[in-house]
Amino acid sequence: MDLSKSASAGFAIAIALAATMVPAVPSGQKGKGSVRFAEVSQILQANCVSCHNAKSHPADVDLSSYDAVMNSGGDDPIVIPKHPEQSRIVAFVDGTKKPRMPFRKPPLSGDQIDLVKRWIKAGAKSQ
Ligand code: HEC
Repeated sequence: MDLSKSASAGFAIAIALAATMVPAVPSGQKGKGSVRFAEVSQILQANCVSCHNAKSHPADVDLSSYDAVMNSGGDDPIVIPKHPEQSRIVAFVDGTKKPRMPFRKPPLSGDQIDLVKRWIKAGAKSQ
């Protein structure tokens, strides 16, 4: 048996295992800390982008990238940095405005809505 070969195979497995242990984007800690767009983006990708993308963007809303989100809504932007209470993206996910988003699907959780609000409150930055 070729020992050097099996040793290097073991090494490769160790590397592969280590790679799977890299933590995912940390979930927002409720109520504190800054929120990165990456965290908001995860929610949008999972719940909104199937309908709101570059090809299909009802109500002029494309949620597939940071720039697209910030340019959505034309003259009436859906995100007003620092003002979640004035941001339509919030009003439509918390049901203040109808039809509630995601359209004809279960609502986002309170934590998810909270995360979007905190991201806007902190300035709706791209990072
Ligand atoms: C199943 C498809 C679908 C999904 C999923 C979806 N939307 Fe929509 N969205 C629509 C449609 C259709 C409209 C236009 C509704 C209308 O004008 O009656 C819309 C409109 C909007 C508007 C603009 C409303 C207005 O009139 O100003 C916002 C903001 C919005 N969506 C945000 C979201 C967000 C955020 C998500 C994910 C949490 C989401 N949508 C998920 C289909 C969808």
